[in-house]
Amino acid sequence: MLNGFIKSLRTPFSRFREDLFFKRIDLTKVPKHVAIIMDGNGRWAAKRGLPRLAGHRAGAEAIRRTIRAAADVGVKYLTLYAFSVENWKRPRDEVRGLMNLFEETLRKELQELHEKGIKINVIGHLEELSKSTQRCFREAMELTANNKEMILNIALNYGGRVEIADAAREIARAVRDGKMALESIKPETLADYLYTSGSPDPELLIRTSGELRVSNFLLWQIAYTELWVTAALWPDFEKADFYQAIYEFQQRKRRFGGLEAD
Ligand code: FPP
Repeated sequence: MLNGFIKSLRTPFSRFREDLFFKRIDLTKVPKHVAIIMDGNGRWAAKRGLPRLAGHRAGAEAIRRTIRAAADVGVKYLTLYAFSVENWKRPRDEVRGLMNLFEETLRKELQELHEKGIKINVIGHLEELSKSTQRCFREAMELTANNKEMILNIALNYGGRVEIADAAREIARAVRDGKMALESIKPETLADYLYTSGSPDPELLIRTSGELRVSNFLLWQIAYTELWVTAALWPDFEKADFYQAIYEFQQRKRRFGGLEAD
C-alpha cells in the first residue's frame, strides 16, 4: 500500500522532471552515440526482498523507457551492456533466467522496434550462447537489418579486452597473409576491426547505481567519452534521468586533450 502511495506521488514528479530536462535539451546538439552500463538490478530486487530475476525484469522495462527517450531526442546509436563475458560467473539459475528474459523481451518488443525503424545489432560472442538465444537475436538482426532511425547495439557476452584481442588477431592475420603492411597500422586501423566498426565513438557513457567503474565496456571506444553516473538503480532509471544526462552532457566543455575553443 505504501509502495502504491509512493508511486502515485512519483509519477507527477517524474513527468515534471521529464518536461523540465526535455525542454532544456538543445536538439541540434544531441550526442550521436550514447552507451549505457545498466547496473543495480540485483540491489533493486534485494531492497524489496525479491529474487534477483525480478530486478532484471524491472530492468527490461527501464530499457523500454530508455529506447523511447533516446528516440525522442534523436540519438542515432544506443549501446546497452546486457551481459558481459564475466557474467558467466553468476549462479547458473540467474544466467539461465537472464537468457530467457533476453529472448522473451526481444520477442515481445521486436515488432514495435522494427516499426520504429530501429536496427538491432549484437556486439559480443553470440555464437557461444544457446542455439535458441542465438536464433532469437539473429532473427531480430535479420528483420531489422535495413532500418535507419537508430542502431541499437546490444552488448551480449561482451568484453572490451576480448574485443581488442579479437581485433589484434584479425590484424595479425591480415599482416601474415600479406594483405596489410605492418607499418600501415594506426589507431584507426584497430577501430576498423572492432565490433563497432563504422559507428562513431560514444560521446556519452551513462552508468547507473553509483559505481565509478567502466567494467570492461567499450574500452577502446570511450577514450574521450564523457561519463555520467547516477545513483539510481537501473530499474528506477526514468526518461527524466536520460534527458538529464543529455542536458548535462551539453553543458560540458570537451577538449580532447587540446585547449578550450573560444
Ligand atoms: C546489471 O545489474 C544488469 C544486468 C547484468 C542485466 C541487464 C539485462 C536486462 C535488464 C534485460 C535486457 C534485455 C534485453 C533484450 C537486452 P546487476 O545484476 O549487476 O545488479 P547488482 O549490481 O545490483 O547485483
